[in-house]
Amino acid sequence: MASAAREQWSSRTGFVLAAVGSAVGLGNMWRFSYMTAEKGGAAFVALYLLLTLMVGLPVLVAELIVGRGSGRSPILALAHYGGQRWRALGGVFVVAGFTILAYYSVIAGWTVRYALSAVATGYPENPGDYFGEVSSGWDAFGFHLAFMALTVGVVAGGVKRGIERVSLVMMPLLFVLVVGIAVYASTLSGAGDGYRYYLNLDVANVLDLDVLVDAASQAFFSLSLGMGAMLTFASYLPRDHDLPKEAGMIAGADMGVAFVAGLMVFPLIFALGLSEDVGGSTLGALFVTLPKAFASMGEAGRIVGVAFFMALVVGALTSAMSLLEVVVSSAIDTLGWTRRRAALVLGGAIALVGTPAAWNLGVLDLMDQVANNVLLLGGGLALAIFTGWVVQDPSREFHAGAGGWRGYAGWYFVLRFIAPVILFAVFCIGAWRTLVNLVAFATG
Ligand code: TRP
Repeated sequence: MASAAREQWSSRTGFVLAAVGSAVGLGNMWRFSYMTAEKGGAAFVALYLLLTLMVGLPVLVAELIVGRGSGRSPILALAHYGGQRWRALGGVFVVAGFTILAYYSVIAGWTVRYALSAVATGYPENPGDYFGEVSSGWDAFGFHLAFMALTVGVVAGGVKRGIERVSLVMMPLLFVLVVGIAVYASTLSGAGDGYRYYLNLDVANVLDLDVLVDAASQAFFSLSLGMGAMLTFASYLPRDHDLPKEAGMIAGADMGVAFVAGLMVFPLIFALGLSEDVGGSTLGALFVTLPKAFASMGEAGRIVGVAFFMALVVGALTSAMSLLEVVVSSAIDTLGWTRRRAALVLGGAIALVGTPAAWNLGVLDLMDQVANNVLLLGGGLALAIFTGWVVQDPSREFHAGAGGWRGYAGWYFVLRFIAPVILFAVFCIGAWRTLVNLVAFATG
């Protein structure tokens, strides 16, 4: 564990883009849009943005501090600052990484399939049936395996030569695609209804506890927080990086892409008169409604459709890499495995865990709920308490490389007093709700 031998990012841009790559993914485009639709639009968006700033950003800074300060993967990083009994929390992080990547990869597999079929054959006559066929079963399983193989390939290549290199190429591509589609969508007649649905705030909804829990878990999922992914990335950082500033850039880019994703999805859906489909939105909505929209737009639709699903694939891949990296770096550090072996063996194990989700959408949805409402919110709560109350004097690490930044006192206060209270509340509600759903699922 000689930290002198530890790999490091080769540039500031490389790290920031890799971290943004982790953050920006299916969460910003698929999950954000369907949650916004399900939770009634603008109120959800407002809460999500607020919670990202109030809770997500401070916890992100905490993860970066613990990661860089220790120069270790999560389990050892927690033990480094808090002693042996904190190793268990690192174990929970690894379990979360396993669970999330397992079903994330199934959804990513759908996006690969949609991107390919858009190129090859255009969109199906009846997207609802098509989604039903390809979202579960052998097809879904096959694309899930293919996507996992891709992820394993990148992570096995290493931090610099795998993750950083892929992020440097892919992330700019993703930005161009997403902004391009949003601009195109704004030219459609009827786009205005989409904007209204997306952006008109209904205050009654803001006060809804249920919406609050979902917005909080969305904020955490979208920023890749609560399971040591950002911590792991930061463990490859030299000390001249300005952590608070880079955290701000990462959170800004993440919120930006989510916001723009809404600007592309909702106008498209409303302009084509598919808003009926949106109200009772579920997990599969994007994969049904958008192909309908693309199909009705003729040749232009095909191009936009390919671009859209390509952006999803890119986002999914750069996020999946970071999920696998948590598990892989832990095995390298604690078991002494080689990177290649860890990536192959653990990637294979994760593919296996994801198999039930490839056969059953209900299972997939439950995995998403357990991971987000229990593991990420609980992990985030524990991490906020850990950094705020256990780590001795995080100010050194906060300021190293941060020049004259003076936000320390404010950050420390929010991390110690505000974030834990909010996280505790949403964790309790979220965990309870998930338990109820689990019981309902088990008893049919
Ligand atoms: N943030 C990614 C997304 O929005 C998903 C993701 C990657 C993630 N790494 C994570 C979520 C770690 C939670 C924890 O799609």
